[in-house]
Amino acid sequence: MKECNALVKDNRQVAQDTCLMTLACEFSPFTPGQFLMLRLTGTCEPFLRRPLAVLSYREGAVELLYKVIGRGTSLLAGTKKGEELSVLGPLGKGFSDPRPEEEAVYIAGGTGLPPILAMAERTGRGRLIIGARTKDDIPLWQRMQNIGDVEVTTTTEDGSLGIRGVATQALGDVLKTIQQPCMIYACGPAGMLKQAARLAQDFGARCEVSIEERMACGFGVCSACVVRTTTGNQRVCTQGPVFDASCIEWGQ
Ligand code: FES
Repeated sequence: MKECNALVKDNRQVAQDTCLMTLACEFSPFTPGQFLMLRLTGTCEPFLRRPLAVLSYREGAVELLYKVIGRGTSLLAGTKKGEELSVLGPLGKGFSDPRPEEEAVYIAGGTGLPPILAMAERTGRGRLIIGARTKDDIPLWQRMQNIGDVEVTTTTEDGSLGIRGVATQALGDVLKTIQQPCMIYACGPAGMLKQAARLAQDFGARCEVSIEERMACGFGVCSACVVRTTTGNQRVCTQGPVFDASCIEWGQ
């Protein structure tokens, strides 16, 4: 983990309430699922840093894809090229790679696309399922169509793009077609993760989930981000955000 100031190279809207920010920043190699804590420099507002999953890092440039859903991300969305942000990271534990014999299946919904897209781009193979309410909520559509040997399925609740329905329905359909061992990577709303974990169990697949939780410190000292697991409470920021789905206590 390191702290540095990073210059904004680009920050633009790429879908409804969604921005793609590129920061100039020397950074250690990251694993998809790891995140940065960001805050504006020269101001105390917002006081807490915001956690954002890393989308990519190459040649001194970090990409962050984020939904504008509150005061902190609204302020981030307003930053312009040449402005500076304070960056802490990379933080947390990322996804593990699929085994050579495994088919990789990635599923993202809500704000969960960045670590899932990062993982699909890292492996360059498998099936990618994107769920959204409507087509206007889906960013980087062209980019997703051009990831190596990755087949993309889209679901929208209003049927405006791809299959009408929710991503976990498509996950069940995709899993039925796969004959080999399977590794599922999931990030999105809790209900989606719980259903992905259940489907993994039903189909005998391994499954890792990236949990989205409110954070304050981002490095294990405040206990703001605790999740219940089969071995007790764990901190999402340091022991996650990626967990084996079978270890999470999903509740009713
Ligand atoms: S955010 Fe402080 S312990 Fe995780």
